[in-house]
Amino acid sequence: MAVLEILRYPDERLRQVSRPVEQFDAALQARIDDLEETRRAGPGAVGIAAPQVAWFERVVIVDVSGRRKTRNHGHLILVNPEITEWEGFGIGREGCLSVPDYTGNVVRAERVHLQALDREGNPLSFDMEGFEARAVQHELDHLDGLLFLDRLVSRRQDLFQRKNYE
Ligand code: NI
Repeated sequence: MAVLEILRYPDERLRQVSRPVEQFDAALQARIDDLEETRRAGPGAVGIAAPQVAWFERVVIVDVSGRRKTRNHGHLILVNPEITEWEGFGIGREGCLSVPDYTGNVVRAERVHLQALDREGNPLSFDMEGFEARAVQHELDHLDGLLFLDRLVSRRQDLFQRKNYE
């Protein structure tokens, strides 16, 4: 396994739309393991998306179980994920491994229904809410070339410089 380099804003490659995974082979398993190791090597990231390590296929990892009082489904490897239902909305603060110097306030759906495949290609389906739903929406945006910076209500009022990425 390997810790991979994370692309950082304004790297244009972060704008690429990623393609669906078609082959659930050993190469995919190895890339998923590298993606996970890269997430773990980072500063407590709750999620990572494949294009952040210049792998332009639709794979994300989300794990918000380390946050207290957050309803969640544990550690999730999501291949070809799709949100099929959205409900409600709320504002919350987000950060990103690809935008290490800032956080921002972003409007997201409060509850989502998510469909995906696991790393073996088996179907998964989840009803998510709150921070987990937010994290999934953030990571799926990466697959379409979007960053939280694109979703700030106001760049002047909703973007915050941070001293340390914890
Ligand atoms: Ni991100």
